[in-house]
Amino acid sequence: MKLLPPLSLILMCGTFAVAQETNYDEANVPDYTLPDSLTLADGTKVTDAAVWTERRRPEILKLFEEHVYGRVPGQRTEMRFEVVSTEKGSLGGKAQRKEVSVYFTSEEYEQKMDILIYLPNDVKKPVPAFVGLNFSGNHTIHSDSAITLSKQWMRNNENLGIENNRATEKSRGASASRWQVERIIERGYAIATIYCGDLDPDFHDGFQNGVHPLFYQEGQTQPAKDEWGTIGAWAWGLSRAMDYFETDEDIDHERVTVMGHSRLGKTALWAGAQDERFALIISNSSGCGGAALSRRRFGETVKRINTNFPHWFCDNFKKFNDNEDELPVDQHMLIALIAPRPVYVASAEDDLWADPRGEFLSAKHAHPVYRLLGTDGFAADEMPGLNQPILRTIGYHIRPGKHDVTAYDWERFMDFADRHIID
Ligand code: GCU
Repeated sequence: MKLLPPLSLILMCGTFAVAQETNYDEANVPDYTLPDSLTLADGTKVTDAAVWTERRRPEILKLFEEHVYGRVPGQRTEMRFEVVSTEKGSLGGKAQRKEVSVYFTSEEYEQKMDILIYLPNDVKKPVPAFVGLNFSGNHTIHSDSAITLSKQWMRNNENLGIENNRATEKSRGASASRWQVERIIERGYAIATIYCGDLDPDFHDGFQNGVHPLFYQEGQTQPAKDEWGTIGAWAWGLSRAMDYFETDEDIDHERVTVMGHSRLGKTALWAGAQDERFALIISNSSGCGGAALSRRRFGETVKRINTNFPHWFCDNFKKFNDNEDELPVDQHMLIALIAPRPVYVASAEDDLWADPRGEFLSAKHAHPVYRLLGTDGFAADEMPGLNQPILRTIGYHIRPGKHDVTAYDWERFMDFADRHIID
């Protein structure tokens, strides 16, 4: 038998301890009262769209900034786009591939993100697009050997061919099943992606790397308690990609869908909530701090997420560890911020850590705001069965299987986009 080093023992004990505290039983979900999206802080009921748009929406946005994701400090930095490569005949002639670097920098601190884009050939331009951050480098979304291999720091992962925190040739196409590039192209959409670590590497270094230092005031060494963490920086990057799309004549920037899985699904929701240029927002298994209601404390809780990932949210969010009822918002209000734009929430049956029911309930409780703004909102009171997608302005599905993005998920996302932003 292989002897485990002491560190693994500690980690195993840690995992065991986590498993002990995690609630996966619906009967143990505590009673809770959700804050009302349609009541102003001064107690006035919001009964028309103008009051929502001019007063309540800004109030809720500010609460999420101050207590959950943190606000982006100061002014936007200077930006420069450089089209690094284009190839008209990629993917066997079906698509055009582009790589674009977005520089945020001043000379002292060079910082950029690289956008990889595939555009379908033989379609009318400009084309509607999906954009999403990826976990392990642009080169992982497809085995196309011409994609630039990321040189950034990334978390070691043997299956993904990441060694010494750097990608290797083995990483190419390692996450292709999560992207379905060929199908997206066949269905007439462009797909754009960025490695999240270009914006902020996903480990807690006290915010010395990534884009945070670009915004520090004289003498500042880390974000203030109500300033952005890593998810805030990732979401900011998605908006910078949108700035680029506005300049690219091949992309229909009025029909851009932002999509994200898991931590990057939390990010897609936050990006879509803040930046109304995104026409459609998709959250795939975004769980705690994403679509799932925090007050349910089912699966991952606020305390667990803030402990395991202390850099994701703003510091103020830690005040709500084991204290969810004091949160001035819950995640249904994040979805409401997207209204009246279409939003799709996807869950997986076995992904209890992400609380599928909590994700469904956020979608459901966003309905009143969507109705107030004149859309059909959501259709279901109860969770639908497996593989029975709801495609109203708020869409939802739960499919069998684990925490992942599958071909099934992508087909539904595209059905939803066809219905809501193509016609
Ligand atoms: C962890 C984390 C989740 C997150 C997920 C992911 O499981 O606890 O909050 O969504 O990683 O990003 O894959």
